[in-house]
Amino acid sequence: MKDIAEIRADFPILNRKVYNKPLVYFDNGATTQKPQCVIDAVTEVYTTYNANIHRGVHFLSDMSSEAYENAREKVRSFINAGKREEVVFTSGTTGSINGIAFSFGERYIKPGDEIIISHLEHHANIVPWQMMCERKGAVLRVIPINNAGEIILEEYLKMLSSKTKLVSVTQVSNALGTVLPVNEIIAAAHSVNVPVLIDGAQGIQHGVVDMKTMDCDFYVFSSHKIYGPTGIGILYGKEKWLSELPPFQGGGDMVDKVTFEKTTYNELPFKFEAGTMNYPGAIGLARALDYVNSIGRENIAIMEKELLSYTTEKLSGINGLKIYGNSVRKISIISFLLKDIHQYDAGMILDKMGIAVRTGTHCSQPVMDRYGIDGTIRASICFYNTKEEIDTLATGIEKVISMFS
Ligand code: ALA
Repeated sequence: MKDIAEIRADFPILNRKVYNKPLVYFDNGATTQKPQCVIDAVTEVYTTYNANIHRGVHFLSDMSSEAYENAREKVRSFINAGKREEVVFTSGTTGSINGIAFSFGERYIKPGDEIIISHLEHHANIVPWQMMCERKGAVLRVIPINNAGEIILEEYLKMLSSKTKLVSVTQVSNALGTVLPVNEIIAAAHSVNVPVLIDGAQGIQHGVVDMKTMDCDFYVFSSHKIYGPTGIGILYGKEKWLSELPPFQGGGDMVDKVTFEKTTYNELPFKFEAGTMNYPGAIGLARALDYVNSIGRENIAIMEKELLSYTTEKLSGINGLKIYGNSVRKISIISFLLKDIHQYDAGMILDKMGIAVRTGTHCSQPVMDRYGIDGTIRASICFYNTKEEIDTLATGIEKVISMFS
């Protein structure tokens, strides 16, 4: 296996300086950096075989169509989905959830029906369901969380009823790092025949994700959070659902026959891929998944677990620093506040030291409301980060505190 210096050398941006200081990038929850092989994959498309997919009989179009469909197969195998028909390319997590919320709402939802989400969702897994509930007269139910930032499972079990039509929860909280008990959530929903969507935006990049073991009905994620290009993501759906659901967008390629009187739709997965898709993005994503596999998902999980323990220990020792989110099951996201110091001030000073952290609500306002705060400072760490960088963060935080005291 590559050592950390070799891994870091794969990501050209990690070498750069910010304000003449080495970049310390702890905003991986917002987006991850890209290894050279992913950058090369996208460049190769545009420099050697760029052509629209599924539309031409010419050489380049064949080449790009084949690379795009190979990318789909790569994703299928990475998440261990049963069939390539179950893997739809979208613009990302947000696009996938909006699509399902629209199609599922049109097909199945009636006034008084209920959709369950959790208090840990980011806005992408709240707003599309609210929009669907408004359109259809349905009701949004929210699983509460405890002070540690864990969902209260008993409350969820009480919420499930004959009115429940879908459960949509995140695998990992982007704001607190909590890992949700998705297996229990899915099993309980399935015991009353309710389908489950798992939002893998913050889950896919931290360990092995297997559709056959997880058995969710839908799984969504974004390429850019797993070292791939932006603007491309995945909607996995079990074939029985995807065949029944209507398309969420109309346009070229998703059709079988079009007349002014009636249109019939293409087969799966193309029924859900309207217009020219982001094929360079899909091909870049496939390269990113190869890269992740070359490091090893188990190895990534081990490295990140160690970094999380080190960061938690280091930051817990800082006087006046409070960590939000202390779930027993957590990935390498640490949200915190410094007593009496606004998170934006702290974030801006850390930035001047070359340290990139996210500040604010992290697109999860309800989580902040739950704690009565208007935001946190978030360090989201991944396997290319180092203990030295965590030391730099800790020293930076001490400096911020001393500047304000
Ligand atoms: N949802 C992304 C984050 O957590 C943007 O930062």
